[in-house]
Amino acid sequence: MRYKVLEANELTDGGQRIVSVKEMELGIYRIDGRYYAWRNVCPHAAAPVCAGLVRGTRLPSGVYDYRFGLDNQVLRCPWHGWEFDLTNGRHLAQGSKAKLRGYPVEADESGVYVVIGE
Ligand code: FES
Repeated sequence: MRYKVLEANELTDGGQRIVSVKEMELGIYRIDGRYYAWRNVCPHAAAPVCAGLVRGTRLPSGVYDYRFGLDNQVLRCPWHGWEFDLTNGRHLAQGSKAKLRGYPVEADESGVYVVIGE
């Protein structure tokens, strides 16, 4: 079922909003024109992860190398600092299988909708 969560263009690129749908809190993010919806529960210890800051992060690199990337695409959990890629929900630590729980988002001129199964 589709649930309207935002008006069309209510979020500018890089914007974020926490909404309530079916007794759940979801973080809605707009990144490079695409929308993403993630449940506001961290897979580590259930913090309200969507209250975290969105930034970039250090990328894997050599010992004396410092590479920054994924700018405005990484959500950092406010409790213990786990970082998640907002475009796929994956925890960025090497080897981790932790992931944010996400829902499909559809957007058109009438609004932004999250699709949640019954
Ligand atoms: S609860 Fe999110 S990193 Fe621990």
